[in-house]
Amino acid sequence: MKVGVLISGRGSNLASLIDACAHPDFPAEIVTVISNNPGAKGLEIAEAAGIPARVINHRDFAVRDTFDACLSEALEDAGAEFICSAGFMRILTDGFVEKWRNRQVNIHPSLLPAFKGLHVHARALEAGVRITGATVHFVRPEMDEGPIVAQAAVPVMLNDTEETLAARVLEAEHKLYPLALRLIAEGRVRIVDEKVIISPAPTDVPPSLIVPGM
Ligand code: GRF
Repeated sequence: MKVGVLISGRGSNLASLIDACAHPDFPAEIVTVISNNPGAKGLEIAEAAGIPARVINHRDFAVRDTFDACLSEALEDAGAEFICSAGFMRILTDGFVEKWRNRQVNIHPSLLPAFKGLHVHARALEAGVRITGATVHFVRPEMDEGPIVAQAAVPVMLNDTEETLAARVLEAEHKLYPLALRLIAEGRVRIVDEKVIISPAPTDVPPSLIVPGM
């Protein structure tokens, strides 16, 4: 599956997807990385990996519609069939989201539907939750909403600061995103009634067929 990755900054999730895609048996390939921010560190990560990377600066567009149309065209030109948003800090228009419906996922650093939006870790600490985490979900017009593909749970420690918690969640994100992308690229993810159903891998053996001693 040919994937376009959208970024705005650091690009650590992009790096985890690049590493995963480097394995010969991984069923997805990153064909383009696009940043709306010319200063995004992730652009260097893409270039170092030999992946075509480009900037489409939203500041060059008067309205969201034309920015989104340019973004969509760039993804199509690169041959992308699927989009992974990885720290992409722009709200996309409904038109863009509908065009790529069920072909775009995002990673968010909380256990959605809790803590949508920004300053997630500070809000998790403020709320006193004992467990937080990360979510990969299909993108819908409402921010941080959409069918959930996979989640990782991360404990909150008593002495956590926003920074230590963010670092622990980020480590989980780096495992979760490649796992979710693999499931999708293997064709094992379906959306029924806005919920994700994951089919077993062809090699999964039902437990009843495992005969001790064989
Ligand atoms: C991640 O925490 C991601 O969940 C959120 O933005 C952050 C991006 O980090 N959407 P990076 O650019 O992938 O390092």
